[in-house]
Amino acid sequence: MLLFLRDCCHELLGHMPLLANPSFAQFSQELGLALGACEEDVNKLATLYFFTVEFGMAKQDGELKIYGAGLLSSVAELKHAINSAEKSQTF
Ligand SMILES: [Fe+2]
Repeated sequence: MLLFLRDCCHELLGHMPLLANPSFAQFSQELGLALGACEEDVNKLATLYFFTVEFGMAKQDGELKIYGAGLLSSVAELKHAINSAEKSQTF
């Protein structure tokens, strides 16, 4: 039951806000259609998806912006990502 609730939180809090944006929904649709591509390209798309849709974060005008569903739906993942970014000074 706990895993089911965690998955629901991930989908509703993490993915739904982005999927409500028509441009992002179209991007997701095109990613899904590209899964028929060669294995090398699919692996590249999977990496792109992982570092954007699932765990995306960026700095804009000196401010950290979080947009990845895995970060938006998990306080623990969000704290870990922010602390790691601050330690590595990559942002
Ligand atoms: Fe996800």
